[in-house]
Amino acid sequence: MGDKLRGLGRSATLPKKLFIKSYGCQMNVYDSERMVDVLRPMGYRPVAEAEDADLVILNTCHIREKAVEKVYSELGRLKIIKELRAQRGDRMLVAIAGCVAQAQGFQIVRRQPTVDIVFGPQTYHRLPDYVTRALEDNARVVDTEFPAEAKFDLLPKERHAMTPAAFLTIQEGCDRFCSFCVVPYTRGAEFSRSVDDIVKEARALIASGVREVTLLGQNVNAYHGKLASRSATPVWRLGRLLRHLEAIDGLERLRYATSHPKDVDEELIAAHRDVEKLMPFLHLPVQSGSDKVLRSMNRQHTADDYRELIDKIRKVRPDIALSSDFIVGFPGETDEDFAETLRLIRDINFVRSFSFKYSARPGTPAAGIPNQIEDHVRAMRLSELQAVLNAQHQIFNEACVGKTFSVLLEKQGRHAGQLVGRSPYMQAVHVDAPDAAIGDIVSVKLMNVGVNSLGGDLVRQNINAPESRTLGLRSAEGIKTEVNSV
Ligand code: 5AD
Ligand code: SF4
Repeated sequence: MGDKLRGLGRSATLPKKLFIKSYGCQMNVYDSERMVDVLRPMGYRPVAEAEDADLVILNTCHIREKAVEKVYSELGRLKIIKELRAQRGDRMLVAIAGCVAQAQGFQIVRRQPTVDIVFGPQTYHRLPDYVTRALEDNARVVDTEFPAEAKFDLLPKERHAMTPAAFLTIQEGCDRFCSFCVVPYTRGAEFSRSVDDIVKEARALIASGVREVTLLGQNVNAYHGKLASRSATPVWRLGRLLRHLEAIDGLERLRYATSHPKDVDEELIAAHRDVEKLMPFLHLPVQSGSDKVLRSMNRQHTADDYRELIDKIRKVRPDIALSSDFIVGFPGETDEDFAETLRLIRDINFVRSFSFKYSARPGTPAAGIPNQIEDHVRAMRLSELQAVLNAQHQIFNEACVGKTFSVLLEKQGRHAGQLVGRSPYMQAVHVDAPDAAIGDIVSVKLMNVGVNSLGGDLVRQNINAPESRTLGLRSAEGIKTEVNSV
């Protein structure tokens, strides 16, 4: 091993290049950002391409088979890059993080020896140690423990926000055990961070220029955190936490994802009425509209329970827009069951959705149900479902034309003076605003609907310009994201 590669001695002087690719959900995006924070003291800085990186991390998703295949095909590409680098005398470390790492552990290094480090979502605070062992001892490091020590207590307290809209994980794991889902196995039992800890992190984000915070959890509205960790303080649910966070100066917008209908309580519904900073947008996955399928999925609610819940929320917040996840071709799903899903979609009217063909995940109860649906049927149902959903999304977007919304500007657009931001309804909005900056919240009149975004005219600049507005914000280079669901 050449001197220039040996361990940490060099870290203080020469920055090392870190490339992270994040697959799957927003929780992985959050974890990737925290990995950057963990590796910063070792001298690693994020870069936009894997080609000349010293350390490449693939932060993986295990939710569907396709997500896993993508990781192995990316590893094939990295193997070639690594070999080319080695021929030039450079060393590149390859690490696999996230849920595939948690589920497959040693199997990964056996199948793809180019991998140096494998670690699950619960131990990335130990990354400096893994990297040192891989570099100094030439060791293969595999760590898929669920350690007793709380990861969040050991992560750096500072946050370096990449964009003005940031994620903040408040809850991890899931105890619901939907019969199709690997999450309870890869992410483990439900755990909620303390209110104090969350407030501190929110403040750190705001100090680095963030204006919108999305609270994250695999089942975020199962949140039940104590005021302070390791104390006998009362337990707060999500509604109470949202009210509390609203009081933070400089925080302008709040969101949360992803939630389960059974965990929506009265306090949370009331928060949608009372918390002004909470955006009028709710991602509340229903998965199916058939009671028989919902039962077999172990969702613990019926399609009518969902309809009634949405009615209740709409009563207190009439302008709320709904979003959902759907699975088609769940084992045993008949044409009639599928028609029930289409009926529910028409009843609710979703403005944004994510839909998937059922994918049998080894070890989950649904994988053992005998009546698996053939792929061509799943594919046909998916395209029919997506046509209905896309039409709803399009109608909603068209109905927004002529209306004026607040838009949080998140990145540069393609043309000079153009910026791209998000409306309260998560729509991407392009606007010419040469005097505005990333991090400003501007008022925009929507003028036209494109394929994936809306165009608008600036009505008023800087609705709420804080002193800190662009403090410390950089572009999100170095973390590539392939989101396949929220
Ligand atoms: N097959 C297909 N889709 C799945 N999801 C979760 N598990 C599976 C599976 N086995 C979808 C659900 C969930 C989203 C994150 O991914 O719709 O809400
Ligand atoms: Fe998976 Fe969500 Fe069901 Fe939990 S609630 S098992 S994360 S689909």
